[in-house]
Amino acid sequence: MELYNGLLTRRSVRKYENRPVDKELITSILKAAMYAPSANNTQPWHFLVSRDKEIFKGFLESHPHSKMLMEAEWGILVLRNRDLQYTQGYGTTDCSAATQNILLAAHALGLGACWIGTYPRENRMAYLKEAFDLPDHLEAFAMVSIGWPASEPVQPNRFNENRIIWK
Ligand SMILES: Cc1cc2nc3c(=O)[nH]c(=O)nc-3n(C[C@H](O)[C@H](O)[C@H](O)COP(=O)(O)O)c2cc1C
Repeated sequence: MELYNGLLTRRSVRKYENRPVDKELITSILKAAMYAPSANNTQPWHFLVSRDKEIFKGFLESHPHSKMLMEAEWGILVLRNRDLQYTQGYGTTDCSAATQNILLAAHALGLGACWIGTYPRENRMAYLKEAFDLPDHLEAFAMVSIGWPASEPVQPNRFNENRIIWK
């Protein structure tokens, strides 16, 4: 897929086919995540890949808009490494860039994905930290559901000239 077209056509996909997604594809996606920019090139991220439906079910209690994880093939939890990040603020922006790369790489490979908001919601972060038994220096940053898309998202027109300031 041509990159610019991919940027415009990526949409959140919340419905998935009941069809396996090979670990090789997930690894390719995570490779793309690791090529994201980061402040001072600190790369303060880790990635936890899971299909543990019991944990996902428990997550629903702290986050009702995470239902798509129940039918997704995989959930990728982006983790922020507090010991590696340049500053807390930069750790946030770096992990956001990595998460966006996951969404774009999934789209490029024909998969569907959705960012499931975690940071800065303390209850969601705390649940995932405990459920996955994360060490202290790793913080749950964002969950991404992944699967073969079972729906064709509507493509909006989002270009808004009024949001551009030329000076
Ligand atoms: C930080 C962040 C948190 C999000 N959290 C959720 C979520 O918890 N559940 C969900 O269904 N979508 C979530 N989304 C997806 C947004 O709803 C989606 O990106 C937005 O509606 C625009 O649609 P698009 O991704 O198809 O362009 C999140 C997106 C971001 C960037």
